[in-house]
Amino acid sequence: MLSGASIDVCYNGGELKSEMGRVVSGKPSAEDTPLDSSLRPRRLDDFTGQAGIKDNLSIAIAAAKGREEALDHVLLYGPPGLGKTTLAHIIAAEMGVNIRVTSGPAVERTGDLAAVLTNLHSHDVLFIDEIHRLNRAVEEVLYPAMEDFALDIIIGKGPGARSLRLNLPQFTLIGATTRFALLSPPLRDRFGAVYRLDFYDRASLETILKRSVRILEVPAEDGGLTEIARRARGTPRVANRLLKRVRDYAQVMADGVITEPVAVEALSRLEVDRIGLDEVDHKVLRAIIDKFNGGPVGLETIAAAISEEADTVMDVYEPYLLQLGFLERTPRGRLATPLAYEHLGLDYKKSPQPPLL
Ligand SMILES: Nc1ncnc2c1ncn2[C@@H]1O[C@H](COP(=O)(O)OP(=O)(O)O)[C@@H](O)[C@H]1O
Ligand SMILES: [Mg+2]
Repeated sequence: MLSGASIDVCYNGGELKSEMGRVVSGKPSAEDTPLDSSLRPRRLDDFTGQAGIKDNLSIAIAAAKGREEALDHVLLYGPPGLGKTTLAHIIAAEMGVNIRVTSGPAVERTGDLAAVLTNLHSHDVLFIDEIHRLNRAVEEVLYPAMEDFALDIIIGKGPGARSLRLNLPQFTLIGATTRFALLSPPLRDRFGAVYRLDFYDRASLETILKRSVRILEVPAEDGGLTEIARRARGTPRVANRLLKRVRDYAQVMADGVITEPVAVEALSRLEVDRIGLDEVDHKVLRAIIDKFNGGPVGLETIAAAISEEADTVMDVYEPYLLQLGFLERTPRGRLATPLAYEHLGLDYKKSPQPPLL
């Protein structure tokens, strides 16, 4: 059974306003909430794409169920909006167990985590979103919990203090993160399986959109969905959000049917270009090209030039620009590639460096 039990999910922590209003952001926004729950696939069969992960997971789940054991701890990582939270819920549903949901920043004290752990039932899933944001003391409580299903409690203070070991039920920890590199190695090592989610190809996004229009009962032609898929920057959450905007446009400005011209017109009005880049992506590229002669330039400098946080640039804008081959990461910073110049209609002839004074 899916209990949906939730401790505290803190999704939008520390986000800048500009990112929250952005239609092509992979991060969740308030307008997604009702949409997310109706469109979120519940079972592995409804989960499109990520074939390798699905195969491995279904084998691991069948094996664990056959042995009547909890599934090994799973770490899911990748850019926002690719299906990490969805997969965590699917794993619990396929295992037939409860899922408890929390996030790194929500678990402030070791006692918070101890309370969650001691309330788990055998084979339950504990989902910790943004697991890279757990503080070190809390993380240390997780080590014996993950490894030995045990909780070490210190009773008393000073020389009289005693340590007590409490047994926990066998459970599965599922961690999700956009930042694999920020996870401490001892924590990483304790996951039995680590899966990296990739951006989706256009065909997978079209399949996802077809399922969504069926659920939402929106009339749509294939050409219209292809156009949305093309601009969804490889991200299911973005695809569904664009679909919703195009649906509104079709309803008000056309006869309600999402055709190719309707999709093109609606998306152009949202200033999402033909490959899914919006104004902020353009700002990132223009900053590197115009202000720093194409780079290399450090992430912090780019962020400052466009008044964003470095974290947001790294989590949200950069992954897709890297994927497109518009940006390159070098030891000395980020470089704009000839492809980026071409997309912006600029000549890739780098102007000479200004003389050093
Ligand atoms: N593989 C998929 N198939 C169908 N829909 C998906 C898939 N992955 C994600 N989605 C959709 O995208 C939304 C965002 O996914 P989510 O799991 O919240 O992403 P993440 O946790 O990685 O940020 C979900 O509500 C769901 O509607
Ligand atoms: Mg999530």
